[in-house]
Amino acid sequence: MTDQHTPTSHLPGPPVSRWWGCFAELRRDTLEFLLQCQVYGDVVKLPMGLVVELLLQQPDAAMYLLNHPADVKHVLVTNQDNYRKCPVPPVESRIFGQGVLHTEGDTHHAQRRLFLPFFHGGHVTAYSRLITDTAQARVAQWHDGMTIDIGQDMAYLTLSVIWRLLFGQDVQSDTGLIRDSISAGQRLIKLQYDSLLASLIPLWIPIPRHRRFTRGFNVIENTLIQLIRDRRRSAEHRDDVLSLLLAAKDNRGHPLSEREIRDELMTFLLAGHETTANALTWTWLLLSQNQSVWERLVGELKNVLGDRPPDAADLPHLPYLKMIWNESLRLYPPAWSLHTRLAEREDRLPSGAILPPGSWAFISPWNLHRNPRWFPEPARFDPERFSDEATRTRPAYAYIPFGAGGRRCLGESFAELEGLLILATIASTVRLGLVDKQAIHPEPGMTLHPRTPIEMTVQRVDLRKSHPVVA
Ligand code: HEM
Repeated sequence: MTDQHTPTSHLPGPPVSRWWGCFAELRRDTLEFLLQCQVYGDVVKLPMGLVVELLLQQPDAAMYLLNHPADVKHVLVTNQDNYRKCPVPPVESRIFGQGVLHTEGDTHHAQRRLFLPFFHGGHVTAYSRLITDTAQARVAQWHDGMTIDIGQDMAYLTLSVIWRLLFGQDVQSDTGLIRDSISAGQRLIKLQYDSLLASLIPLWIPIPRHRRFTRGFNVIENTLIQLIRDRRRSAEHRDDVLSLLLAAKDNRGHPLSEREIRDELMTFLLAGHETTANALTWTWLLLSQNQSVWERLVGELKNVLGDRPPDAADLPHLPYLKMIWNESLRLYPPAWSLHTRLAEREDRLPSGAILPPGSWAFISPWNLHRNPRWFPEPARFDPERFSDEATRTRPAYAYIPFGAGGRRCLGESFAELEGLLILATIASTVRLGLVDKQAIHPEPGMTLHPRTPIEMTVQRVDLRKSHPVVA
């Protein structure tokens, strides 16, 4: 940190094309490019190039990658009122509408006020039983020696859980169709982020990728609308997000419209299952590659649970499980990048950089979590980094898998409860081994997911007996 003021014209950054700015490098290998940018210091200038400057009519348009936790805290928390989310590509607005993920100002505050009590840690623990039952039902479908696509299994599992949280019932529709529709939407969003041209072609033009998206999207949208209408008609109250929304009033005292309710449900459906599924998938990968960690976890589970399933009250007694979860979210944060923030007024960051109005602040948990200043040997999996003592010695905002400030993840308590209970349930029942010779790479889409499916073999274990050691 410094008392010097650094205007953006003096900020260092990688050499990029004058016309196309940093986009070619970001597209080529986003994750590696971000890590390489660490050498340029606390705030790295990523010019957006002449084409974007002309389109935005903003000379010297650039993104500023923030590498220092103090600057991250400043933008997300201390001076958050100076920042809003940058506009998103058309397909993303179409999907999320005016749900809590994308609104700003008073509307956003009112939405958070509505949801916060529901997603409070004390309330979500009521879902423990549902989570462990769903995990047990999934594992019951696995037999000894079977090979599974772990990412797909985790996605089906977390989709079943979020559906129950939102609608208080099991998924009635074809889950495969819902998953495929979500994937088609995510691919299109990624394409529109990567290509200016793709984001300029209106969605109503019936090219194949638009048709695929619209078909899938209509399936999900129609299902949500039907669920809203059925519940409204039955006037039944359940402890789920749909009932919360139907009972809510806007700031003029009117009930929410069908459109508003649909936007929130769509937001929670998408924000709330793939993130957790990916977190679990990466954790299984890391555990399968680190047998001693798996052994220690199984020992902890055996001591605390014996042969019964876990519930929320057990979690404070399973500290190693929590350290593994935290370390997995460090290495593979599902939200690898936060939404880029737009500065409304000039702002001087604690590092000394002065961001002019209209600057884009780019904060990447992936990049922060792999900075050797805060995490020595950053690529090494080591749950001990999250012992109480190690955590105390690090700046708080060096680790932000759930974001921070007024836009911090609303589902954090739920995601943690779900992640830990699923890990504990499954690790008590089976041992997952990585199938040999798979090239595994993280891919930064809407969430950080494996580029190709990760195959694992299932071996049943019985914690009451001593657990088998897999060579
Ligand atoms: C491991 C799982 C999860 C991770 C890593 C994660 C991460 C995040 C992050 C980083 C943000 C902030 C984005 C930003 O500031 O640009 C966020 C926002 C959000 N998350 Fe999560 N999330 C997870 C699970 C969930 C779940 C389970 C739900 C719902 C049940 C959920 C609902 C939301 C919502 C509604 C927002 C928007 C909050 C706002 O803008 O006010 N998330 N999440």
